[in-house]
Amino acid sequence: MTTKILFVCLGNICRSPAAEGILRAKAKDRDFEVFIDSAGTGGWHVGNPPDSRMIKSAAARGIDISYQRARQVDLSDFYQFDYLLAMDLSNHSDLLDLAPHNRTCDIRLFLDFADGDVRETPDPYYGGAHGFEHVLDLLERGADGFLNHLEDESA
Ligand code: 4NP
Repeated sequence: MTTKILFVCLGNICRSPAAEGILRAKAKDRDFEVFIDSAGTGGWHVGNPPDSRMIKSAAARGIDISYQRARQVDLSDFYQFDYLLAMDLSNHSDLLDLAPHNRTCDIRLFLDFADGDVRETPDPYYGGAHGFEHVLDLLERGADGFLNHLEDESA
């Protein structure tokens, strides 16, 4: 059965598009059946491609995210997806506030599936190039851990 995953950050132009691209690539390598999308809690960048700095940093790791377009979280997402995976605690609490009481998705912090104590993927938008590399490192660890979780669930 296909597992449906929605990554959620604030603007849907830096962290969640990168998470989408990374998990899609790793799921393909490991033969997982997944449907992956991403969205922002905010609507400022709706219709825009990801931040050019993230497109470039992801491309250097072999991940193409240039085709993605930003969208805002929609109420139907709480029923369409199995997992809503938040990048930071603020995204996580915004999702819990928006969530209909009869939602059918699990709302989790993405890095809670990763090895290590870091729980939040920091917003790289106002920082330098190093911030984007750090985010990609964290997202790779999150993706590995999340796929291990799906593997455990299906065992
Ligand atoms: P993201 O980064 O949440 O990782 O996409 C941000 C991008 C834009 C803004 C905030 C965060 N913004 O305020 O425009």
